[in-house]
Amino acid sequence: MHELITLTSNLREPAREPVACANGNGPRVFIQTYGCQMNVSDSQTIESMLGEAGYRFCGTADEADVVLVNTCMIRETAEVRALGQLANLSSLKKRNPAMVIGILGCVAQAKRREILESHAYVDMVVGPDSYRRLPLLLEERFISAPGAPGLLETTLMREELYDDVLPRHHGGVTAFVTIIRGCDKFCSFCVVPRTRGRERSRPLPSILREVTHLTEQGVRDVMLLGQNVDSYRWDDKDFADCLLAVAELPAVSRVRFMTSHPTDISEKLLRTMGEHEKICPYLHLPVQAGSNRVLREMNRPYTRERYLEIIALARELVPGIALSTDVIVGFPTETEDEFEETFTLMEQVRYDTAFMFKYSERPLTKAAQRMKDDVPEDVKVARLERLISLQQKIARERNEAQLGRQTSVLIEGLAPKDGAMWAGRTPDFRPVVLPKNGESVGELVPVRLESLTGFTFHGAREN
Ligand code: 5AD
Ligand code: SF4
Repeated sequence: MHELITLTSNLREPAREPVACANGNGPRVFIQTYGCQMNVSDSQTIESMLGEAGYRFCGTADEADVVLVNTCMIRETAEVRALGQLANLSSLKKRNPAMVIGILGCVAQAKRREILESHAYVDMVVGPDSYRRLPLLLEERFISAPGAPGLLETTLMREELYDDVLPRHHGGVTAFVTIIRGCDKFCSFCVVPRTRGRERSRPLPSILREVTHLTEQGVRDVMLLGQNVDSYRWDDKDFADCLLAVAELPAVSRVRFMTSHPTDISEKLLRTMGEHEKICPYLHLPVQAGSNRVLREMNRPYTRERYLEIIALARELVPGIALSTDVIVGFPTETEDEFEETFTLMEQVRYDTAFMFKYSERPLTKAAQRMKDDVPEDVKVARLERLISLQQKIARERNEAQLGRQTSVLIEGLAPKDGAMWAGRTPDFRPVVLPKNGESVGELVPVRLESLTGFTFHGAREN
């Protein structure tokens, strides 16, 4: 049996300069990130904390002294992938017993004990609320018992330390900034409220400080992140105020956000989007299902009719808005007719992008506790395939309707397949390549959309 050490917040403060990392010659860290943008953003914050503590970073697990795996468990496949990576690490650990292996993210939060008990080579399990402790946990590992067995486990203590840690930016003109953490919605299929905890908004001044810091490093395009950005609240400021405050920073060219919730999205937000050029006309508004009965079972407290009203209002107030959604097929008890209602909703809305998933039963959720995962796998697959082919057709048609349009492209870098071309995106997030002609990265260029290859546009500069 391994010794479990539980840390509590008042144990002691982390040392500023971990001994093992003195002289900027510290252990090398490799972070593998799975899952959503929130995890990517968390990994960047962790890199920043560890970088400040003197750690160095490397590109592969082989050369690392510390390997951190940031896991996702939104669907079973994501969890299996992350745990599969862990199995690979066990052989590395055999070769290099001094290597420290840490599991982070949502699986770490929900399955701490199981991981520690069944993966003997794992040294620490740290959930999203405890990342601030990572430097301390690693420091103890390096100072007190390098290579020795013994496991560290963190508690569920909530600590928002993101507020004063600026994420390590990897270059490039786009960056993610988390504005609200956790979720209070408790959709019956979703594990996120269990792994990420209750909703907490970051103070606006801290968000603006982070965005300013990013723009000083060349960022022009900011994506504001949260499981439910529409319920952002700080002081007397709501999400529309927050979005506007970011857009008004002079060095920001574009601001985007995700994810929205049909119950919390406001008319004020849609008006703010329509009135400000820097706020991208793009809305990710998951519908999940087109049937009112299924929506009720999912604990999504809106109807199909209300959802369609919001879409109509968005199109009225934000001309040219691009729409995207998340949809689940095969939720327990979903009938063929109810699936058909999801299909017709997607035909009606005509999304630009849709993320479509088969229902996957997740531990700790209401659906898992109360409902049987009773839609057979082959039925789920058939429903998903029908939706995907519908959506591909709609997306193609919507893209073709853009040809000839004048728009702007934010240059993000060289096109991956052709060094004589720039790659960038339109304000409504369509990828574009265009011939290089003296522009620079981060510049907004007026462009006409001329042709399409797959889902990438070919643009010509307009003067
Ligand atoms: N099964 C399938 N899809 C899920 N999602 C969340 N939980 C599940 C689940 N248990 C999808 C939802 C959500 C997106 C991020 O993932 O559509 O909006
Ligand atoms: Fe999960 Fe629903 Fe919260 Fe989204 S809104 S994170 S689907 S509980």
